[in-house]
Amino acid sequence: MICFTLSADTLQGMTSQVDRYRDCFDILEVRLDFLRQDERDKLLRSTALPAWLRETPLILTLRRQSDGGAWNGDDTSRLNYLSSLVVSSLVENHSAHPVGAGRSLFLDLEDDVVALDAGRKAANVAALHGVQIIRSRHDFQGTPEDPLSYGSDPGEGRGHAAPGQIDPRSMDEVYRLRSQGPNSEVFGIIGNPVLHSRSPAFHNAAFSRHGRDAVYVPFPTDDLTAFRELMSLLDIRGLSVTIPHKEKVVSWFEDRGAAGVVSSPELAAVGACNTVTRSSSGDIVGANTDVAGFLLPLLYRVPSLRDRGVTVLGAGGASRAVVYGLLSSGARVLVLNRNQDRANSLAAEYGDLGRITAGGLGPNSHASLEAHNDIIVQTTSVGMHPDVDADPLSFYEFSGTEVFYEIIYAPPKTKLLVRAEAAGCVVIGGEEMFLAQAELQAGLFAQTESI
Ligand code: ATR
Repeated sequence: MICFTLSADTLQGMTSQVDRYRDCFDILEVRLDFLRQDERDKLLRSTALPAWLRETPLILTLRRQSDGGAWNGDDTSRLNYLSSLVVSSLVENHSAHPVGAGRSLFLDLEDDVVALDAGRKAANVAALHGVQIIRSRHDFQGTPEDPLSYGSDPGEGRGHAAPGQIDPRSMDEVYRLRSQGPNSEVFGIIGNPVLHSRSPAFHNAAFSRHGRDAVYVPFPTDDLTAFRELMSLLDIRGLSVTIPHKEKVVSWFEDRGAAGVVSSPELAAVGACNTVTRSSSGDIVGANTDVAGFLLPLLYRVPSLRDRGVTVLGAGGASRAVVYGLLSSGARVLVLNRNQDRANSLAAEYGDLGRITAGGLGPNSHASLEAHNDIIVQTTSVGMHPDVDADPLSFYEFSGTEVFYEIIYAPPKTKLLVRAEAAGCVVIGGEEMFLAQAELQAGLFAQTESI
């Protein structure tokens, strides 16, 4: 069940939070401690309270500062307020349908308050008025069958009510929390940062389309060793891997002869892994869908890359997948990088795969660029949000015959891509590579279905 925590400081603010996420929750938690004093008083006195307070299952919480809340008064006046609330017209008029057994109105009361007269009174008055008491405690042995999952509004009010929370609409529509059960399969993405990744929206939608009882969640992590244990504990079926772990995850597959480990040829050649799945026999399988994800949108425009002159801007992690894909397809590749040594090492490393040269990213490389300008691929971070006015190729005028391929997808059109488009070039935006690698990854996840 989804519990939506209201975090605005006025009742009107809470009403707009309820309106914004209508139909996405099963119960509301009213954080009385976030309300202004005068608004809290209104709850005791007013007879014209918003309808949702009457019609929705509710948890009333007045959390003290020592428990992470915002109530800074003493405990006795806090508990006296709760007693007054329980005998007010708010409780009397509450008519929401029951959730489970009993009345669907709850008071969040800490275990320790029974030591106080005011605490015992609040508990007794609640019992008399049919208000159930929630006593929070940590269960280290396991998770109950049907716990509440809390969500909150990132915008209005205090932002998320607790670290790691997400909004109820994402819980309902993206993660489909209400349709999940103990048998739902778990997939996810590891990286850092990863909470703003678009992959959960993509893969959860794919599971939903295919009617698969599975969920895909972001796992922000810095510790791959610990995560590998978690992968077994949670029985995680498949993973996307992103920055900064793509290179480090390769070590999971390095012992190629070892039992239980399978990896694709691109993985070793590129030295990066963006997909991990588990086979029916329990092996972990590593793959790199960035290479094919890069090539597919390009081959759609340029069916054969053989002997085409291609300049790749950048010599970092993303460039490796691009350069490997291009050389494997027979292109002549020039790598230009700000740090020329890095470009030289990449060219030396991939020299056996095909024709590759290197240079610095600047006007001195103009002549070599002219000899490799059938296709230009931009893989540096220059021009990425928020630095959207930057242009890594300002020394070059497009003639209009080049195919220009940008790896960055935020913004959807970088300054350099707009310039190439204005010159008449065929352009490919970063969105296409993102979608292509994600589709290929979804295909690998789908293959785990028969496990
Ligand atoms: P990724 O995995 O996204 O490729 P990376 O490995 O950190 O990330 O590589 C970033 C790339 O962007 C590199 O080619 C880097 O050039 P340097 O090797 O010279 O650092 C390039 N890059 C980053 N900032 C740059 C800038 N201001 N001007 C030019 N190139 C830049």
